[in-house]
Amino acid sequence: MRELQAPKGVSEYFPPRSQYFELVRETLIDSARTAGYSLMELPVFEDTELFKRGVGESTDVVSKEMYTFEDRGGRSLTLRPEGTAGVMRSVIENNLDKLMLPIKVWYSGAFFRAERPQAGRYRQFYQVGIEAIGLNDPEIDFEVIAVADRAFKKLGLESYRLEITSLGDAKSRASHRKDLVSYISKLKLDDATLERAALNPLRLFDDKRPEIREAMASAPLLLDYLSPESKENFARVQELLNSAEIKFTINPLMVRGLDYYTGTTFEFISDKLGAQSGIGGGGRYDGLMAELGGNDLSGIGFGLGVDRVLLACEADGIFDASINKSDLDLFLIALSSDEKAFVSNLVNQLRNQGIACDMAYGDRALKGAMKSADKSGARFSAVIGADEITSGLVALKDMKSGESKEVRISSLAEEFKSN
Ligand code: HAM
Repeated sequence: MRELQAPKGVSEYFPPRSQYFELVRETLIDSARTAGYSLMELPVFEDTELFKRGVGESTDVVSKEMYTFEDRGGRSLTLRPEGTAGVMRSVIENNLDKLMLPIKVWYSGAFFRAERPQAGRYRQFYQVGIEAIGLNDPEIDFEVIAVADRAFKKLGLESYRLEITSLGDAKSRASHRKDLVSYISKLKLDDATLERAALNPLRLFDDKRPEIREAMASAPLLLDYLSPESKENFARVQELLNSAEIKFTINPLMVRGLDYYTGTTFEFISDKLGAQSGIGGGGRYDGLMAELGGNDLSGIGFGLGVDRVLLACEADGIFDASINKSDLDLFLIALSSDEKAFVSNLVNQLRNQGIACDMAYGDRALKGAMKSADKSGARFSAVIGADEITSGLVALKDMKSGESKEVRISSLAEEFKSN
């Protein structure tokens, strides 16, 4: 029989590493919650048209990397390559934009891009994202960046940096585009590149080929075309970042992989991750909602790559074996098979009372059972034999200090609740 394997290039997490994945994801989510964002749980697949219109046909994501399939009703569906377009679709469809603005939501889950797999780049990966929709304030741009930065700092991450730029408003982009298109028209380019440039000339700044890089080295930069409003807005965002002591550099050459960005745009980078160094990114998107058939509201958000943040934390040595993230309060061991039913019943009762506990299963000798207690990471353990059942007393062992104290079996739950 053929051996079954996970599909090529997907990321997956299992114990013990999954506890760190969970810790990273929860820390990112917590930072969003702390800033007033509420959960949005969205479908993993959407109408293919949503991503074509939302993310843009000039992008690699749409032109090369989508997992698109036909369902049984002949509809074209696509596994979500990113979260922002889906959030917009849901906001429009459910009239959330008629409520008080801004709408502030977070989401977390799996995303899919058919990229060439390598370290830190997967075909199924995980993001935690936020979107703040409905207002175009530099204070909100700052808030979104600060939510990501706070989460990274909370994790203890040190090897990361922030790059920002502004892609300006419609006026800024129109005047830049005119000059950029005229600059590009003087270059000798192959048909495929010309086609990409026609859809979005900014894409050429992101071309990795040395000859294109060279040709683009003196191309006009959008940052030099910002309208007075965009300039002022961008300056205010920088002021706010400075006063919060969030360090950043301005990267006028930043090109994001998705077409909807306008205004403040940013990326968080970890230099310890090799080629796949982007641990998160985002920015403002002025025309996206109108493009998808909704009101003309602006928004800003980010997507943080949980897989890559975990890799960055590991590269920084944040998660070592001394961090025991077990949720267990207590691990119980039956001295012989005679006490197993008693212990099983006790464990069940303690769990009913909210105490996190587990027990040694199977018929292992005491030594083996003690090893299980160690491995479980529980804070306390206790062995229950005939004597303990008769006396109603048990020696509760602190797994860290090795010290024991005698506790009444009937008051075990209280013991932990008061701890
Ligand atoms: P993005 O930059 O395409 O933005 O993705 C955000 C993050 O997801 C990246 O910085 C990276 O950490 C992670 N990521 C992307 N692709 C992969 C992959 N193949 N394997 C592992 N990690 C990956 C967005 O998706 C936007 N929706 C963010 C956003 C929200 N902008 C505004 N609102």
